[in-house]
Amino acid sequence: MTQDEMKIEVAKAALKYVIPDSIIGVGTGSTANFFIDELATIKERIEGAVASSVATANRLEDHGITVFDLNDVEEISVYIDGADESDKQLNLIKGGGGALTREKIVAAVSSQFVCIADESKLVSVLGDFPLPVEVIPMSTNYAKRQIVKMTGGSPILREGFTTDNGNLILDIHDLKIKDPKRLENQLNNIVGIVTNGLFAGRGADILLLGTVNGVQTITPVIEN
Ligand code: A5P
Repeated sequence: MTQDEMKIEVAKAALKYVIPDSIIGVGTGSTANFFIDELATIKERIEGAVASSVATANRLEDHGITVFDLNDVEEISVYIDGADESDKQLNLIKGGGGALTREKIVAAVSSQFVCIADESKLVSVLGDFPLPVEVIPMSTNYAKRQIVKMTGGSPILREGFTTDNGNLILDIHDLKIKDPKRLENQLNNIVGIVTNGLFAGRGADILLLGTVNGVQTITPVIEN
């Protein structure tokens, strides 16, 4: 089974978490795109969706799915999105596509977060995938210096990329993230950082993992 076939399988499996007659949150990236295509097959069952990026809003609208502005919505029943890495506690690294800030906002508002990913994304320790951080442009070099001091990692500017919010992305390489919640909070305290791609304070509730043996449903392992 190819990686794309695994992504399609988890996209299909996620349909059973879609709550009828509600507004759902939809993420960004190749796995989320497969989910949007599946969602289109049951679009009459939902009221509509809140999108975590301009690209996702466009794809939803192309399928005739109503897209709501988050400010016009009080409740999102479920958020469905991919990830760049997940550990067994379902702490995630996200933002490979640069949509981390809007993704984090939609995830925060949602009652449940279902993450969909192929098996390559499950890791024992987060950090092999460079951790994306969204920065206000004028703070880029200050943020870089602070990140090096704080983490020992290597922040690299994502060349030629601007977020939907008009900001820049630093990708932090060479991290082994032992305490994702702590690092998430520490990075968010650096002035000029909008947010970072660690989803630990609000991780996923369920991970649907596409494997060669089918879709596995994983819930967070509770550490003693
Ligand atoms: C977008 O900014 C990301 O958070 C994506 O959810 C993440 O990069 C996963 O993308 P793929 O599904 O394309 O691997």
